[in-house]
Amino acid sequence: MLSNVIKSILVCGAGTMGAGIAQLAIESEFDTFLFDTDKYALENARIRIDNSLQKHIEKEKLKNDEKDRMLSHLKLSDNFKGIQADMIIEAIVEKIEDKLSLFKDLSQHFPPETILATNTSSLQVTEIAAAVPQKRRVIGMHFFNPPAAMKLVEIVKTTYSDAVILEAAVAFVKRLGRIPVLVKDSPGFIVNRIARQYYLEAFRIAEDQMADFRTIDYLLENAGFRMGPFALTDLIGQDINYATTQSLYRAFFQEPRFRPSVLQAGLIKAGHLGKKSGKGFFEYE
Ligand SMILES: NC(=O)c1ccc[n+]([C@@H]2O[C@H](COP(=O)([O-])OP(=O)(O)OC[C@H]3O[C@@H](n4cnc5c(N)ncnc54)[C@H](O)[C@@H]3O)[C@@H](O)[C@H]2O)c1
Repeated sequence: MLSNVIKSILVCGAGTMGAGIAQLAIESEFDTFLFDTDKYALENARIRIDNSLQKHIEKEKLKNDEKDRMLSHLKLSDNFKGIQADMIIEAIVEKIEDKLSLFKDLSQHFPPETILATNTSSLQVTEIAAAVPQKRRVIGMHFFNPPAAMKLVEIVKTTYSDAVILEAAVAFVKRLGRIPVLVKDSPGFIVNRIARQYYLEAFRIAEDQMADFRTIDYLLENAGFRMGPFALTDLIGQDINYATTQSLYRAFFQEPRFRPSVLQAGLIKAGHLGKKSGKGFFEYE
């Protein structure tokens, strides 16, 4: 599979990341299918993509006919019927059993030359690759939140990954206007492994009642970080951020520096997942 023959893609999962990745793909005029088992999530994704493109029009970065053309490349579906895709990017929940089950379905349903990429933040891509018959076609393609604004994409290479497929993935990401960086498969890859300390130390400082959330964010934002750890985890989703920490903690055999936060666990139990649920550390309209 060569990069210049990637014409159509399927994004699995229409949540925060899936909708953002699908938007990037239609902006670059790829025929894009967006699949989710939840019809409400699909409809919500369509509205978010439409609103985001509308904002480009208001800022005079996009014309109405360009927006219409981009949207004509987007197809929503809650099943695989009639979907043709040269590359599939999985962005469903960060649970290994759910991802393994989806990859098994994908490998049965789509031809063996279809590239299978996961947007996992922290799970081992090699474990996912090992679960499908054509292991060489599985890679990690780790976009950052929000995909429309964040340029970096970590392309994750497993022990099975085929060089031609990695090359195609790098070229594809460049066509989306993003910056691909090839990394080895290791828990959290590079960015999320380093970023754990940014979140976890801030949670410990709050647990020690040294300062409130807003003050800690204010300090860090004025020390040069673009977003404070509390606002940033609200944007990421507390459940997603917590799942990433849990999986690094497990993968590094309970290393104390990756120990999840009780404060964050409490938020999740209360359903305060951040921006997407209207409340996390802070409240949202
Ligand atoms: N949120 C972030 O900041 C961020 C950043 C980088 C990577 N990621 C990774 O991207 C993936 C998705 O994260 P998100 O924040 O978009 O999650 P999310 O909770 O916003 O969305 C997940 C979506 O997947 C759907 N889904 C669940 N199981 C499914 C299945 N079996 N088939 C089809 N759809 C299914 C859900 O209905 C939901 O719409 C995770 O692996 C996460 O670790 C997240």
